[in-house]
Amino acid sequence: MTDDHRVLVSASILNADFSRLDRVVHKMERAGADRLHLDVMDGHFVDNITFGPDVVAAFRRLTDMPLDVHLMISQPARYVERFLEAGPETVTFHVEAEATPERTMSAIEAIHAAGREAGLAVSPDTPVDAVDPWLSELDIIMIMSVYPGWGGQGFIAEAAPKIAQARARLASAGRGGLVHVDGGVNSKTAEIVGSYGIDVCIVGSALFQ
Ligand code: DX5
Ligand code: ZN
Repeated sequence: MTDDHRVLVSASILNADFSRLDRVVHKMERAGADRLHLDVMDGHFVDNITFGPDVVAAFRRLTDMPLDVHLMISQPARYVERFLEAGPETVTFHVEAEATPERTMSAIEAIHAAGREAGLAVSPDTPVDAVDPWLSELDIIMIMSVYPGWGGQGFIAEAAPKIAQARARLASAGRGGLVHVDGGVNSKTAEIVGSYGIDVCIVGSALFQ
């Protein structure tokens, strides 16, 4: 890694005050966040339920910041078009979420057909090589450093070495893809993920405390 490697911050609004999304967005802009990370949960792939494409579209109307949609839903291929219509810059879904490799590919193709960037997220118990069949198509590998579902959980240190594995894979793919890390990132754990070469830190509760 070179000295000029700048780590970006994508602010997760999961633990924000949903009654005033305009305030949340402006607070994150003022705090210097580079991007906004929007956690979509369906009560099926994960136990929690958050929001759907209409709320993503509301964020789109509120800000020009790049929007990263993180789909923690089953059947992402079925729903991805609706999220693309809401206007995010990137859509990442879980490598564990689709029924077949073909459906995973069709979701990635839909994201690219809309001119947006596509990512695969890897839960803590999933090895990074699970993304290998789609590596040449990936703009993002998202390493989950908590079990998906809730903000404010503790950082799972065992996930950190997967950042370097993902970085090496994206470098070999030559597409310029970025590694995101999601869950439990704060001023302390940021040093750990930085040492493994992280590109984008997703930060939720640490920003809202
Ligand atoms: C967890 C979400 C994360 C989370 C990040 O399922 O995907 O984006 O909200 O929040 P903190 O930083 O509180 O772990
Ligand atoms: Zn997330």
